[in-house]
Amino acid sequence: VTESIQGAEPEGTLPFVYGHVDPTSFPVDQLMAAATEALTYQSQQALNYGDEMGPAALRGYLRAKLERQEALALAPGELFITAGASAGLDTAVRLFAQPGDVVLVEAPSFHEALALIRDHPVKLAAVPLDEDGLIAGALAERLESLAQAGERPALLYTIPTFQNPSGVTMSLVRRRAVIELAAQFGLLVVEDDVYRDLYFDEAPPPSLLQLDQERQRVIRLGSFSKVLAPGLRVGWAAGPAGRIRRMAYCGLMTSGGGANPLAAYVTERFCVEGYLEPHILRLRQNYADRRDILLSALELHMPAGVRWTEPGGGFFVWLTLPQPLTAQVLLREAAKEGLTFATGEAFFAEGGGEHHLRLPFSTIERSEMVRGVELLGELIRALL
Ligand SMILES: Cc1ncc(COP(=O)(O)O)c(C=O)c1O
Repeated sequence: VTESIQGAEPEGTLPFVYGHVDPTSFPVDQLMAAATEALTYQSQQALNYGDEMGPAALRGYLRAKLERQEALALAPGELFITAGASAGLDTAVRLFAQPGDVVLVEAPSFHEALALIRDHPVKLAAVPLDEDGLIAGALAERLESLAQAGERPALLYTIPTFQNPSGVTMSLVRRRAVIELAAQFGLLVVEDDVYRDLYFDEAPPPSLLQLDQERQRVIRLGSFSKVLAPGLRVGWAAGPAGRIRRMAYCGLMTSGGGANPLAAYVTERFCVEGYLEPHILRLRQNYADRRDILLSALELHMPAGVRWTEPGGGFFVWLTLPQPLTAQVLLREAAKEGLTFATGEAFFAEGGGEHHLRLPFSTIERSEMVRGVELLGELIRALL
């Protein structure tokens, strides 16, 4: 999970490297109760090969949650259970992109997802984003130039909400434009929305899946990793029934009997018992408090010329250094003091990112976060 971050020194005493879930937040007692229930009352299903689509009650719970919270009504065949968002992305690329096709990604994008896509025989093309998310005009230009070059863009992978690594959220206008472009160019959009529930201020704009009224162009990936526990390896994918059927009944799922039945049944019990939503409220408070501490520290300690994003949710702040200072030079000095972070290059599929660094606020101790930012400020001042 961490090795592929260039330049990261995990041993640092002030580790800004990890963008993980806060491990002290895991609701262990409630998960134990859910596991006991699943094994007491559903052992015959939970311990066996399962339904390819996943446990019916978990799918029903998720569909009801989406309808209640987002007014997103999905038919039973439009959502299935995956082994996390990663598995959903891997399956979508495997099934819906042909060898040699182009997969469009954001610049920057989640580095592990870039590595996952690179496992497939496809080409990556990067489209820049700004504070309002993916730049729709740049996407249009890239699609035009790919068409002129005779390339086939099969799908767009986007993280529209509280993006990893930038923390930015795609505006409603941009979301609509992306859907229009997808329709115009016959593009499938894979919407990775794993941070959506972790908003701190206001709820994010409607998902791309919601905006795709014809329900043809978007596969949305969700996950219990960020709102419950990544070790469960339980997530979901929603979209057009035909695509969902293709994914749920692919060879891997048919041979293996669905994604992680035991973990899916435990997750189902956890949700149906009513534990999930209060837990999400606690997580929002925890991460919002951490975000506030980080932003205040940046405000206090960063020299003029340094810029950073102000995320409304999720785990990440993205810092831009003034030219000519690069994040690698800063990391070299910072590592001597035990301060480590991921530099920007790893997140760019086609180069760039030298002046950026990612500061996750989800796992680092609050006091270390403040000390880390103070030290970063001093080093940047000295290096400039
Ligand atoms: C944007 C994004 N997508 C997907 C994942 C992985 O999700 P999962 O654990 O559901 O596979 C992460 C984890 O860091 C992430 O940041």
